[in-house]
Order: sequence, then structure tokens, then C-alpha cells
Amino acid sequence: MRNFEYYTPTRIIFGKDTHYQIGDLLKQGNYKKVLIHYGSGSIVRSGLLKEITDSLDTAGVSYVTLGGVVPNPRLSKVYEGIRLCREEQVDFILAAGGGSVIDSSKAIGYGAANPWTDVWNFFLKKKTPTDCLPIGVILTIAASGSEMSSSAVITNEDGWLKRGCVKTDLCRPKFAILNPRLTYTLPQYQTESGCVDILMHTMERYFVNLETMEVTDSISESLMQTVIYNARILMNEPGNYNARAEIMWAGSLSHNGLTGCGTGGGDWACHQLEHELGGQYDVTHGAGLSALWGSWARYVYKENPERFAQFATNVFHIPCGLDFEKTALQGIQAMEDFFRSIQMPTSLHQLGLDLTDSQIHDLAFRCSFEDTRTIGAFMQLNMKDMEKIYHMAN
Ligand code: NZQ
Ligand code: ZN
Repeated sequence: MRNFEYYTPTRIIFGKDTHYQIGDLLKQGNYKKVLIHYGSGSIVRSGLLKEITDSLDTAGVSYVTLGGVVPNPRLSKVYEGIRLCREEQVDFILAAGGGSVIDSSKAIGYGAANPWTDVWNFFLKKKTPTDCLPIGVILTIAASGSEMSSSAVITNEDGWLKRGCVKTDLCRPKFAILNPRLTYTLPQYQTESGCVDILMHTMERYFVNLETMEVTDSISESLMQTVIYNARILMNEPGNYNARAEIMWAGSLSHNGLTGCGTGGGDWACHQLEHELGGQYDVTHGAGLSALWGSWARYVYKENPERFAQFATNVFHIPCGLDFEKTALQGIQAMEDFFRSIQMPTSLHQLGLDLTDSQIHDLAFRCSFEDTRTIGAFMQLNMKDMEKIYHMAN
């Protein structure tokens, strides 16, 4: 097992009605001007925005608002937010939404606090931020785990590059309010895409080619089982509070580092492959992951069939004999069957894409940063490998 450091500074406030505390929470922090940042309107329609502003008004906290964040959040909106923060002397950003809104808030926080450079340099990994405006979250979709994570992912419309920021603890939210009821209004496709993303954040850390820790493996396997069980319930009962609550807490635990303790950082190839789909074709992140995962798994499992067999047995109760490869393949099949059972795609076609050979080549070219990098840790993948996986998924 590898050495590790585990640091999760985000205060979690979980449960029914918790978002009504927002005014008091911000008042305690003595913030002078809060930016309420949100998406394309779901929190306006649900009434959440009004509840937030009422709570801030009652507490006497000043604020400005900026909506319009889209899924695969854009750099132009980040620049707009940075300008607003400077004009209004904002000293706290409240992200009310999902991963896209939180990531846009983190990028604005970095941009406003580091006027010495263009914020995009942090996403090109040319520069490292030295500060970030403090961020708080009211989460409306369980998926990205950004409410506790140290990362942010933004799409630059100039070239449609979707890139993750340099990871630092500076952008980790100070608090996250997790009220499972706020997710009731989600379209089913978003709920289930979120479940896939949550699973993937644990699987990316789980599928590594080194000796891991039993305790981390057990936490990961039980987290995966919990998500699978409750994602199925939500297919039929979207208003099931307990299932929503299990998924929401699993979403945060899946991406706050817990399931990576001792696993050396994880693989992350599927996320890298998906980011190109998100940047180029604007697909929903979790659905893109489910379209790719089976192809990735079949491409790499022979590197360590035993690890995949452990996954099959401990997550899907598939008996394991001495033929690890057979059990490994059964486990991959079981996960894909699960994706199908929650109406998630298992190919790019099902994702709504019909890609030509040259489009696939372009995806691999971009994902490999023009053939200058490899991705993955379970198996290192070069540009040719990436192209083959996209082909298998097509
Ligand atoms: O914009 P609105 O109108 O709010 O609609 C959103 C959006 O259309 C809607 N929605 C959210 N909550 C809702 C709701 N609709 C009805 N009722 C509600 N309660 O859902 C749609 C998707 O929202 P989005 O924020 O894009 O979803 P998600 O949380 O899945 O975030 C995806 C983004 O996070 C990034 C992804 O790459 C993607 O850009 N990720 C960020 C990570 C991080 N920072 O640590 C890690 C992840 O791996 C991921 O890459
Ligand atoms: Zn993800």
C-alpha cells in the first residue's frame, strides 16, 4: 500500500430543511458581500433561489446573483463572474447547484483572488493559484463530489477544451449543505448519470495495479453496493428520501479522498477519455462515463484479472474460482448490465453519438495532448490505446 494524506476540511450539514440555515451560516462568517452563483434556472423554478435570498435578507447578509452556468461549465461565464466579484467586492461565493455551478464558483474564486494571471493558466497547469475566495455549497444534484473535492473542471469555448484545474486545497468548500430533498426535482436521466459518476469516482481509485488496503477496499466495495442498490430504487421511486440520502452522502464520500487512501491516487483514464466527449460533444458527464467504462475495462483487465475478479465477487457476489479472467469478465458484464438497468448508455451510439474514424482519431489526439502524454495507472494508455478504446465503445 502507498503512503497517503487524508484531508477533508469541508463542514457537512446534512438533512431535511438544512438549507434554511444559510443566512445564519454566512452571517457567522462576517462576509460583506456574497455572490450567489447558479445554473440555467432549476433553482429559480423550484423556489430554492427565493428561499436562499429570503434567508440572507433575514440575516442581513448582502449579496449579488449570477446565474446561467451550463453543464460542462464555460470559461466565458467564469470571466463574467470574476469581473462581477471585483466590481462588487465579493468576499464569499455561494454555489447553489451541481458540479457545474460548484466548479464555475471555484474557478471564479481562483480568478478573483489571483489577479496576477489569467485563470485559464491554472487549467493549462502552467501556473498554480496561491489563493481562492472562500466557497460554500447548497447541493442540488448528487454526482460530481465537487462539494468536497479539490478539483474543478471548465470548458474553454475557444477550441472546446475541457480541462481540470491544478488540484489544491484552496478551493475546497468551507461548508456544503446536503439536503436530499433538493434533488427530488431532478430529471431521471440526471439522477442516474449522477449515480454513475459517483460509482466511477470510487472505481477510478479502486482499479489500481498495486497492493491496496483492506479497509479502503471494504469501504469502496460497500459504497459501490449502496449506490447500485439505491440507484435501482430511484428508477421506480424518485421521491424515496432514504435512497436520495444514501446516494447523496455516497457522492461526497466517493470524491473526498476516502476511497483513495492507500491506493496511490487511482487510475482516472475513463475520466480523461470522457472529458474529451464533454468538451467536444457536450454530453452529460456520468452518461459519457458509462458509455466508455466497459470498453476501458475489457481493454485493460488482463493487466490484473485478480483485481477485477475481487470486484466481481465483493460487489456483485459472483463466485470466484481459480479462473480469474472468467470472473473478471463476468464482473464487467454485471456492471454494464447494471448501467443498462438504470437506462445509462454502454456505447457511444447509445449516448447519441455516431462518430467517424477521423472524429475518433481526433478525440484520441486531443486526449493525449497531441500525442505527448499517457493516461491511466492500472495500465498506461498512449494515444493508440485511447483510439482503440474509443473504437471499442463506438
Ligand atoms: O443548470 P440547472 O438549471 O440547475 O440544471 C441542471 C443541469 O441541467 C440540472 N439540475 C441540477 N440540480 C437540479 C437540476 N434540475 C432539476 N432539479 C435539480 N435539483 O442538472 C443538470 C446537470 O447539472 P450539473 O451541475 O452539470 O451536474 P453534475 O453535478 O453532474 O456536474 C457535472 C460537471 O461536474 C464535473 C463534470 O465534468 C461536469 O462538468 N466534475 C467535477 C468534478 C470535481 N470538481 O471534483 C469531478 C467530476 O468527476 C466531474 O468531472
Ligand atoms: Zn466524475
